[in-house]
Amino acid sequence: MSIRTYKGNAPKRGANTYIDPSAVVAGDVTLGDDASIWPLVAARGDVNRIQIGARTNVQDGTVLHVTRRSSQLPDGYPLIIGEDVTIGHHCMLHGCVLGNRILVGMGAIIMDGVVIEDDVFIGAGTLVPPNKRLESGFLYVGNPMQKKRPLKDSEIAFLKQSAVNYVELKNDYLAEG
Ligand SMILES: CC(C)(COP(=O)(O)OP(=O)(O)OC[C@H]1O[C@@H](n2cnc3c(N)ncnc32)[C@H](O)[C@@H]1OP(=O)(O)O)[C@@H](O)C(=O)NCCC(=O)NCCS
Repeated sequence: MSIRTYKGNAPKRGANTYIDPSAVVAGDVTLGDDASIWPLVAARGDVNRIQIGARTNVQDGTVLHVTRRSSQLPDGYPLIIGEDVTIGHHCMLHGCVLGNRILVGMGAIIMDGVVIEDDVFIGAGTLVPPNKRLESGFLYVGNPMQKKRPLKDSEIAFLKQSAVNYVELKNDYLAEG
């Protein structure tokens, strides 16, 4: 079974969400309406919580995890992902906060304490080191990441369109039964 309860916390799903049967979603994980979780994703809300906003898609092979609370870090690092976010294939998001309309390129790694403002594009393979803040309206690429340039209007429009595309795609999958 791919949707698992941990210490009494069962994943909570909004309306019309899609979780692929091969994904593992465990513990304190909340999915907003129309969110989608694609094949082989692992989302483990065990030592802290994971929140995934409406219409956000988490693509194949991505790992979502969190950092536990401690005396030095009373809240730990939960993972909070906003609305209309696209997380590409095979990413690693750990204990960070993402705003709305963000694209995380394939294979990106985002570490504890990072905050990403609304309308940000993260290139494929980018490494975002702990506790960085990424500014709204910019493209970031590289390992470690660099602020590359302001986004074009077409790219800002694509951030929302990508989420729309994935809502349509998951509706097709839901219709397959
Ligand atoms: C970042 C990205 C948007 C670049 O688009 P672009 O319009 O070609 O970029 P630009 O032309 O403005 O910049 C190109 C420069 O950045 C470099 N670059 C492009 N993508 C890069 C990346 N992911 N990491 C590091 N450098 C990158 C190019 O080599 C080039 O370098 P140069 O100026 O030294 O020649 C694109 O390459 C990318 O990573 N898209 C992510 C796609 C994805 O993962 N989607 C989710 C899955 S569905």
